Amino acid sequence: MSEAEPHPDRNRRKLYGRRKGPKLSDRQKGLRQTLLGALAWKVGEEPFGQFPNTVKQLWLEVGFGAGEHLVSLAQQRPDVGLIGAEPYEMGMAKILTKLEETPLNTVRLFEGDGREILEGLPDASLSRFFLLFPDPWPKTRHHKRRFLQMEMLDLLAAKLVVGAELRFATDDKSYLPYALERLMAHPHFRWTATGQKDWKSRPEGWPPTRYEAKAIKGPPSFLRFVRGPA
Ligand SMILES: C[S@@+](CC[C@H](N)C(=O)[O-])C[C@H]1O[C@@H](n2cnc3c(N)ncnc32)[C@H](O)[C@@H]1O
Repeated sequence: MSEAEPHPDRNRRKLYGRRKGPKLSDRQKGLRQTLLGALAWKVGEEPFGQFPNTVKQLWLEVGFGAGEHLVSLAQQRPDVGLIGAEPYEMGMAKILTKLEETPLNTVRLFEGDGREILEGLPDASLSRFFLLFPDPWPKTRHHKRRFLQMEMLDLLAAKLVVGAELRFATDDKSYLPYALERLMAHPHFRWTATGQKDWKSRPEGWPPTRYEAKAIKGPPSFLRFVRGPA
């Protein structure tokens, strides 16, 4: 296999959901060349070496949409390296526009499947993981397309440090029990909630997202799980 060819494993799974949307403006196309070039996450390369040396922790958001949550966190926490994955071209264009207006050198972006980032990270390297309003795939026969699967939780457990937080939000009434069932059955994750107040409203310091504002399917739920020892 030549160096230019991707490893066959890279393409073994299908990424569901759309990549292309409306046509990009010239400004958006330009930002892909310049800013995305400068901020691109390099899968499989040493993670801390990809950030300024002031970064002490790594957090990952999968499916950042237009990036409002990720950008807001990066503003709150300059000591954290924030990695974001989003395959939707227009989502990437939107976060690039935000980052042109508000430059943040602690953000790195990957236009593709978040699972690839996870697979390329060393074990016990992530301190926080976010999956916010993921595509719900409401039909039962499509549930296998959901990002949060038992096998994904095994991968996450391997990449998160003990004490790390996994944050999940959904407004879909079938994804909520689906996610809870899996997270609670997993030996490495422990739910932090002690009552309804802990998951029925967005915790302080947790920035809102565009999909939360839409909340088209029902009231949103906000889950926080800690990666514990087995
Ligand atoms: C319903 S949107 C929510 C966006 C954002 N989190 C919010 O709350 O506004 C789900 C996003 O996840 C992205 N997505 C789906 N599968 C993904 C994957 N495997 N890796 C990274 N992003 C993914 C989609 O492209 C889409 O933008």
